Amino acid sequence: MPLGDRGFWHGFGLFETVRVVGGRLPFLERHVERLRRSALLLGLSADGAGERWAYLAREAVRRGGVEDGTLRLALTAGEGGAFSRPAGRPTVVALAVPGGGYAEEAAERGWRAVVARVRRDSTSLLAAVKSLSYLPSVLARLEAGAAGADEALVLNERGELAEGAAANLFFVRGGCLCTPDLACGVLPGVTRSVVLEEARGWLPVEEGRYGLADLMTAEEAFFTSALAGVMPLLAVGGQPVGEGRPGPVTREMRRRYLRRAGITGRGGAGTGIPAQGGGGTGVPAQGGAGAGVSGRGGAGAGG
Ligand SMILES: Cc1ncc(COP(=O)(O)O)c(C=O)c1O
Repeated sequence: MPLGDRGFWHGFGLFETVRVVGGRLPFLERHVERLRRSALLLGLSADGAGERWAYLAREAVRRGGVEDGTLRLALTAGEGGAFSRPAGRPTVVALAVPGGGYAEEAAERGWRAVVARVRRDSTSLLAAVKSLSYLPSVLARLEAGAAGADEALVLNERGELAEGAAANLFFVRGGCLCTPDLACGVLPGVTRSVVLEEARGWLPVEEGRYGLADLMTAEEAFFTSALAGVMPLLAVGGQPVGEGRPGPVTREMRRRYLRRAGITGRGGAGTGIPAQGGGGTGVPAQGGAGAGVSGRGGAGAGG
């Protein structure tokens, strides 16, 4: 990656996090499609690049020999001045590292959350894309960790429920599966989309605007993300959600999600958040073997 890359200096770029399961990348095409759409929103060149990015992602997993882990795919504006238009030569980096997915035991324990000080701005483009300007989520998750919680509950500027620091939010109320509408300042999560598909035809589903009280009077709740899958949310700010244990809809949704992702019967891939600077090494495309590959230009080089 060039030292003058704007992803590094100004957070001008995007990333995707995909779980690696048995050397496969569940829902990779959806992650690549979100990356492509987000790139267009930011004015980054994405013409015909989807397949190339998918190839780089698979190649990083293959070269790294990663069986169970995490794939990170980043696309940046490349080199340029802070306020210049993207020059049409984005940098693409794919990095595969072992670990990062949450095991079944973690899902049994569930997550506890605290309401973050950080808010999502539902009017901001940044709420809709997974940008390298990820500091609000990082700070929210750190704040949660400092309070002894697993995840932050992030509200939007109107005080409505939005999502977690790095996960989407669902809850069951009156037998209806509810999730904040994308207009609330929510990332269109890949796992969210799979859960919504699974839910339709099984139970009533509603995407809407909700307050904290709706969640706190829910029967059960869960977060969703590529790494956590369907993760029970058991308490917020020390107060139990529902009965304070994984509920029946959450359990059934997790089972369905794992089946769709091809994770059924596997113990999961390690626990916890991916280690900083984990086992993988990013190497440029020319660099030969390694867990990372990178490319320049819309259609990318590398591999
Ligand atoms: C802010 C935010 N919301 C939601 C999600 C969940 O998205 P996905 O299911 O695509 O992993 C993430 C993923 O990291 C995220 O960063």
